[in-house]
Amino acid sequence: MNFRKQLTGGLSSLILSAVMSGSLLAAGVAEFNDKGELLLPKNYREWVMVGTQVTPNELNDGKAPFTEIRTVYVDPESYAHWKKTGEFRDGTVTVKELVSVGDRKGPGSGNGYFMGDYIGLEASVKDSQRFANEPGNWAFYIFYVPDTPLVAAAKNLPTAECAACHKENAKTDMVFTQFYPVLRAAKATGESGVVAPK
Ligand code: HEC
Repeated sequence: MNFRKQLTGGLSSLILSAVMSGSLLAAGVAEFNDKGELLLPKNYREWVMVGTQVTPNELNDGKAPFTEIRTVYVDPESYAHWKKTGEFRDGTVTVKELVSVGDRKGPGSGNGYFMGDYIGLEASVKDSQRFANEPGNWAFYIFYVPDTPLVAAAKNLPTAECAACHKENAKTDMVFTQFYPVLRAAKATGESGVVAPK
């Protein structure tokens, strides 16, 4: 290999590693298309489930503001970071899955609200570079609502529609940790154990 070849080879591997470390800077599982839309997070059902909320229509004058049952997931690496530090790292992705209330009578387990059908999907991503101008550097997305097809990529929604309520009411860095016992138990403990309420 002559000197020029060695030099250009060296240079291109330098550039390659710069590009790679650039993409590593924006850590996390979130993927965006060239329009800056978030791609539908894959495999989120294999992430860490942190909490479930139920706001049945019948306790809300026939129509709860939010669809009745909601389950929240956090991507595993960001959960590991939370477990260690008690903070949401750059690149954290959360997914909220919405499910209708199905049966109200259990098979011997009592009356209540049993999960019906899958009816919605939302997500949020924290990224201090990409979302430098968003409150808390979080962006919010909807991928699915009933009667429309699931979208493969979603736009960051306006602050007033999503972020404002999170900023105002959520306990930790715009995330509703007050409703997620799994996150509360693990916060900065390094462990995922079961913790009895204090
Ligand atoms: C009126 C307040 C309010 C508004 C507006 C709101 N949210 Fe939330 N969001 C909540 C609450 C409360 C939770 C906790 C879980 C639950 O009850 O659904 C939550 C949880 C979430 C989560 C799970 C992670 C977290 O931050 O706790 C995602 C993702 C999410 N919302 C997306 C959205 C999107 C997308 C919008 C806009 C279309 C939106 N939210 C608008 C109140 C709000």
